[in-house]
Amino acid sequence: MSLKISFSKKIPAKAKTIIVPVYADTKLSPAAKTQDKAEKGFITHALKTNKNFKGNLGQTLVLTTSDKSAIAQIILLGLGKPADLTPLKCEEAGGKLYVTLKGLECDNAALYLENDKTLKSIKTEQIAARITTGLKLRSYLFDRYKSKDEKTGEKATKTPLSFAVAYDQSAAAKALFTPLDHEIAGVFTARDLVNEPPNHLYPDAYAKFIRDELKPLGVSVEIIDEKKMAKLGMEAILAVGKGSERQPRMVIMHWNGLSGSKTKDKDAPFALVGKGVTFDTGGISIKPGANMDEMKMDMGGSAAVVGTMKSLALRKAKANVVGIVGLAENMPSHNAYRPGDIIGSLSGKTIEVLNTDAEGRLVLADCLTHIQQKFKPRAIIDLATLTGAMMVALGQEYCGTFVNNDDLWKDMETASAQTGEKLWRMPLDEVWKEAMVSNVADLQNLGKTGRYGGACTAAGFLEHFIENDTPWAHMDIAGTAWRKTDQPTVPKYGSGFGVRVLNQLIAENYEG
Ligand code: BES
Ligand code: MN
Ligand code: ZN
Repeated sequence: MSLKISFSKKIPAKAKTIIVPVYADTKLSPAAKTQDKAEKGFITHALKTNKNFKGNLGQTLVLTTSDKSAIAQIILLGLGKPADLTPLKCEEAGGKLYVTLKGLECDNAALYLENDKTLKSIKTEQIAARITTGLKLRSYLFDRYKSKDEKTGEKATKTPLSFAVAYDQSAAAKALFTPLDHEIAGVFTARDLVNEPPNHLYPDAYAKFIRDELKPLGVSVEIIDEKKMAKLGMEAILAVGKGSERQPRMVIMHWNGLSGSKTKDKDAPFALVGKGVTFDTGGISIKPGANMDEMKMDMGGSAAVVGTMKSLALRKAKANVVGIVGLAENMPSHNAYRPGDIIGSLSGKTIEVLNTDAEGRLVLADCLTHIQQKFKPRAIIDLATLTGAMMVALGQEYCGTFVNNDDLWKDMETASAQTGEKLWRMPLDEVWKEAMVSNVADLQNLGKTGRYGGACTAAGFLEHFIENDTPWAHMDIAGTAWRKTDQPTVPKYGSGFGVRVLNQLIAENYEG
């Protein structure tokens, strides 16, 4: 992906494609009016003959100018009803604009904006920043493993685009876009990690990636290997990784944007926990073969944590945040853990393994205990592609979120509405906590309620590892971590889900 974004007061001379906004019912924005005048009423005329273009949100109309014009194309970008315009709607329009530009193989375009005083709910610099955000998010491509064309020396997927935002108040637009761009960088890292194949991204390689990616940004990174795990008593994550040649790792990332500040330095950190099963075969309780390749995304929770830490560091967040990810590969082998085994855990609780495919909760258990023992965090959010049952319940649109604290949920709900990463609150209940108690050990990793409420019993299991009523949320991202489409030309890919909502939550509630 080679997208170059720039902000300037005037349209760069090189830009041959000019984009201007048009509102619903083909009402011209101020910028569109200016462009219309410059082209002697060309836009007004075109709108009369192209009745299908209504200016609806994200709708585009590509107009080829006459040979007398200095520019090649004008693209009208629909923004819908002005009174309804929100930052997220601008992002949606920006995403659709990217698809149009890519279809045209356009390599140089300028979005031209003028201040619109009639807009009450949103400022023009916000429109600029959010259209650009949507455009950039949509431009993501994973082509690391595509070979270069012999003749051109380029990848066939490469579609370079220089995108300029031309606006009188360009500095204000850029100031709004920069932190969003840091958020996007975190989203892209999370997507890359999910898309990375499991033969390349195994626990140790993943741990080293995190270190190499985050250390230079000022995040302190600690890697716990299998020997140290054994010493500490992390028997649960070790059991999950036992069947694989590639031994587990735990990685602790600490961004203390408050260090040095006298009053806040001692504050307990906010904690993020991620499931990082680099491949989930199911282990001895092996999964069916169909679509098993998709289980490379079983580290999506950890990817969201790593991506968020990157965003925080890039935008130098004034917050104290610690992230922990449990990395393991769930494989069947002579050495694998089995159904029937009773294992220990860092918490001291013993666990009867009834199904080796319910491995994520075991990995999370040790991560949750470690982060609480070491940091006494003020709140914890864990993210995990934990259950197929979650997908059955909420599909791919909503992330089921189990929260033991109403204030934390309120903040998460707000961050969700602001970022468009949709969360839906799910219930925690003593019944499901009880359903995870074993007859022969302290806990068991399958619910006594059978298949019913599988996402809820999984959350009930995790609840056993939360100490002292620490505010805690569990996000089951099984449905949202991965985009699946029924169009053969649109690839399945990691969504990076979680980075935006977490980054926003921290920005609004945990910055000093
Ligand atoms: N990683 C899976 C859950 C999953 C399934 C994520 C589909 C994304 C898409 C998890 O480890 C798992 O296998 N869960 C089991 C739990 C069951 C054995 C209690 C499941 O959901 O079937
Ligand atoms: Mn599993
Ligand atoms: Zn799994």
